[in-house]
Amino acid sequence: MDDTVAAAARAAQANAYAPYSNYRVGAALVADDGRVFTGANVENASYGLTNCAERVALGAAATAGARRFTRIVVVTDSPTPAAPCGACRQALAEFGDDVVVESIGRQGMRRWRLAELLPHGFRREDLIT
Ligand code: THU
Repeated sequence: MDDTVAAAARAAQANAYAPYSNYRVGAALVADDGRVFTGANVENASYGLTNCAERVALGAAATAGARRFTRIVVVTDSPTPAAPCGACRQALAEFGDDVVVESIGRQGMRRWRLAELLPHGFRREDLIT
């Protein structure tokens, strides 16, 4: 049975706007103060403008002032659990890679650490200042 965070991701998935791929994604991102922010994928006729569910959730969280995250749950209709895309891994890692990433598919779930999914991401320390 889903926990409340997974249930929030499922509710967000129901609002996915995915008329082109018909691949619906919901995400629920948990801040270190316990707040939960959700997102769904939002596609566009100009395909490259599509926003992934994870980054929509991250945008909502950052806009509300959250900066540290403990967990993200992603829900898809994939047969096996789908890991977040590379762009979303990098976007999440901006705020720290000590985050549990869970993905729920139709036939089960998987759990990783963000640091494991993005072992050598670009970091702010790499910038020349
Ligand atoms: N998508 C996500 O929302 N998250 C991911 O991590 C991978 C892909 C969305 C983008 C697009 O709307 C659809 O799934 C198919 O790629």
